[in-house]
Amino acid sequence: MSLSNALVSAAFDFGTAYSGYAYSLRSDFNEDPTKILTCEGWPASKGLSMKTATCVLFNEKQEFDSFGYEAENKYMTLASEHFHHNWFYFRRFKMELYGEKSITEKMVIEDVNGKPMKALIVFQAAIKYLKEHFLANIKKFQAVLDDEIQYVLTVPAIWSDSAKKFMRLAANGAGIQDDHLVIALEPEAASIYCQHIKTERVSTDFAKSIVGTKYVVVDIGGGTTDVAVHEKCLGGKIKELFHASGGNWGGNMVDEAFFQFLIRLFGGPVLAKMKKDYLFDYFDIMQDFECQKRNLSLEREDTNYILRVPPSLSKCTKKYI
Ligand SMILES: Nc1ncnc2c1ncn2[C@@H]1O[C@H](COP(=O)(O)OP(=O)(O)OP(=O)(O)O)[C@@H](O)[C@H]1O
Ligand SMILES: [Mg+2]
Repeated sequence: MSLSNALVSAAFDFGTAYSGYAYSLRSDFNEDPTKILTCEGWPASKGLSMKTATCVLFNEKQEFDSFGYEAENKYMTLASEHFHHNWFYFRRFKMELYGEKSITEKMVIEDVNGKPMKALIVFQAAIKYLKEHFLANIKKFQAVLDDEIQYVLTVPAIWSDSAKKFMRLAANGAGIQDDHLVIALEPEAASIYCQHIKTERVSTDFAKSIVGTKYVVVDIGGGTTDVAVHEKCLGGKIKELFHASGGNWGGNMVDEAFFQFLIRLFGGPVLAKMKKDYLFDYFDIMQDFECQKRNLSLEREDTNYILRVPPSLSKCTKKYI
């Protein structure tokens, strides 16, 4: 089966903070390109996003254990009982592929406690989990052969060629053959989607805007912000007017600024001790911040942030007073 005849197109959004997938059946697409299905029932989901957390957990033998909120919860439980030290827990690891450095399949990355593991195994495990979750989901209501599926994996436009190639290798390792795989650029996927949606912020539907319309797509994620400038062409095609640009200016930077604020407030050694001895409480503070960050509104005056201080933080602080 050639890719253009695939019965199902499944796209994985492997994000720095959150990952998920969406899929579309050819018959639905021909009728309405915006008829897209997504996964709504992630295990242990906290309902923060349609995606699940990009976290992978491996046991002491480096065998895959869990992904997403499930992995986050399990690691938190292990940490609360201090059983986590020999496990391998990776979060926000997509950013390891960002930057000027050349990425190779031999690359090694460190888990949250600095324990090294082959990056390819970590990325493969994440993509494999998404693929298997998608297959289990679609097979509940649609008979489809593996060979009839086209997979799309999106990557930041500002990544190097070696990073994009690495993601292809990881997808291959996760059981997605090259002839069934399209690596798409995140802002381009967003731009194509914009061709079909009705936008509320412009006087007319974007879908009805004229050929020649030039526009900027700004994709602000957890890790990167990708900026693309496109022009609408005939036949639903788009033209890139400038090379994609951007940088590591995602929501993670806000979290990092909050962490630096905590360091200024309590001192670096206190936070280091907290991470080492009370990892559960440290994650709890950061998760609380994530929820509060989402509820902040620029229009509202009451933008006070209340930081709950766990007893362990005051314990660590006392040690250094
Ligand atoms: N309402 C909100 N206000 C502020 N930040 C938010 C809000 N909602 C989500 N975020 C932040 O957006 C980021 C997640 O966005 P998204 O899921 O698009 O990123 P991603 O796909 O994981 O990352 P990337 O595309 O960079 O790899 C997180 O940093 C999250 O804290
Ligand atoms: Mg993203």
